[in-house]
Amino acid sequence: MTSRMPAIILLGPPGAGKGTQAKKLEDRFGLVQLSTGDLLRDAVARQSDAGKAAQAVMEAGELVGDDIVIAILNERISAPDCLAGVILDGFPRTTLQAEALDALLRERGDRVDCAISLEVDDEAMIDRISGRYTCDRCGEGYHERYKRPLKDGACDKCGCQKFRRRADDNADTVRRRLVAYHAETADLVEHYDEMGVLAHVDAMQDIDSVQGLLRDLVQPLVTEALGTREAMDVSA
Ligand code: AP5
Repeated sequence: MTSRMPAIILLGPPGAGKGTQAKKLEDRFGLVQLSTGDLLRDAVARQSDAGKAAQAVMEAGELVGDDIVIAILNERISAPDCLAGVILDGFPRTTLQAEALDALLRERGDRVDCAISLEVDDEAMIDRISGRYTCDRCGEGYHERYKRPLKDGACDKCGCQKFRRRADDNADTVRRRLVAYHAETADLVEHYDEMGVLAHVDAMQDIDSVQGLLRDLVQPLVTEALGTREAMDVSA
């Protein structure tokens, strides 16, 4: 019976729903969400060397240097909790990052199990990003129209009444993030297609419908990678 670390990648442009869906997959399957955006924002908040180097680049909507991002990802993915499996959200974003990830996983006897391309049109992305906000305490994500707290003004998860918006969620920066996506990241779809691990999901549907499609893809992969069908049977 095999047991490997399942590794699933969510690909997609800004606002496609990578973070929203990764969080739900994490809750459902016990996988660990690895968001390089979150890791970098944390580094900026702590004003670590990597954070200082990344701050202006992120505010401009451009991509942070491969060396910084790969080092941050490498450190996080090596933590023991990631043995449960990982959902990569926002990484890789360049061919160099994809090759670094392939090499990193190969060294551990692991591999990318699936790269799922979340497909949305540009108008929906802008709409989703412009309405996005998060809880200031626990980071739970919301949207002005598509995901409001159950009780107005209070976070569903922790009750906090303070919310915030990301510094890079203004119209100009979003446009630059889209340009960076089309210039650097969109081609990764081909990389994973050639590896035979690419799946497409129509992410124009509502959040729960997209999650249903993702669960159908992810459950068998997690079961197969961990080699423990009974233990991972969370379909009930
Ligand atoms: P990052 O944090 O990764 O941002 P992003 O890729 O631009 O993606 P977003 O977080 O904006 O969108 P998302 O797809 O997660 O959407 P979400 O689920 O929040 O990166 C930020 C910056 O960090 C980059 O610009 C770069 O500078 C740097 N960086 C990060 N990784 C890097 C890397 N690997 N290399 C180099 N630089 C890197 O959803 C958006 C909103 O829509 C939410 O409000 C949600 O509630 C709503 N929503 C979600 N799904 C749906 C749906 N189906 N229907 C309706 N509403 C929905």
